[in-house]
Amino acid sequence: MGVHKRSNWRVYHLNTELQLEQTFDEVVDAIAGPGIGIFPRFLDTTRVAALRRDFAALTPWQLTPAGIGRDQAHHTNERIRTDKTRWLEGDSPAQRDYLALMAALQRQMNRQLFMGLKDYECHYARYDEGDFYKKHLDAFRGRGNRRVTTVVYLNEDWRDHDGGELLVYAEKGKEVLHRVRPEAGTLVCFLSEQFPHEVLPARRARLSIAGWFRIDDPVAPAVLL
Ligand code: OGA
Ligand code: MN
Repeated sequence: MGVHKRSNWRVYHLNTELQLEQTFDEVVDAIAGPGIGIFPRFLDTTRVAALRRDFAALTPWQLTPAGIGRDQAHHTNERIRTDKTRWLEGDSPAQRDYLALMAALQRQMNRQLFMGLKDYECHYARYDEGDFYKKHLDAFRGRGNRRVTTVVYLNEDWRDHDGGELLVYAEKGKEVLHRVRPEAGTLVCFLSEQFPHEVLPARRARLSIAGWFRIDDPVAPAVLL
């Protein structure tokens, strides 16, 4: 019985890992093509649950108003964004698993697209009721070292009236290309210099992990448009 259960689990686990590899291929295609892709169920429910628990275990003082942190030139500006963040440093199994996953994605992008990505940084972000992040770019063309943005969401059963959608705009102009519901497991991945985006005010707590694959060390601040 125990053996049976375990082998079932193994098959299940293998399946989800295989699905992940397929999704990695799709992410690579999206980055090489339109430069953006949206992948529902990128994270399985087990991973989402582990990350949610890990996030929930943070004490209030471990979360800082967004913009404070690694980058000295980057200061809080409540007119631009009001979320609270915490960098992932690999402090827990859930964080290490997530970072390993993104490292694998980084290797695949480098192998197939020769992007020369050197590292990945990411933070948990919590938007409480009313919190937002206005239209911005994650990197300046030619100046930023952030090449590829990733955002994954950790929110179960997100409804339309919960707000908090991510709007992604065309490179130039006001046209909305994508309106993304921050539903648990969904990954949004795009070229950091190319797509202005914003987070509409959330009407309930909204949890995400925003991250950036970088080509070099110094951090380029986000740019308000
Ligand atoms: C960011 C960002 C989007 C989101 O942190 O730079 O744009 O949907 N986040 O959380
Ligand atoms: Mn952004």
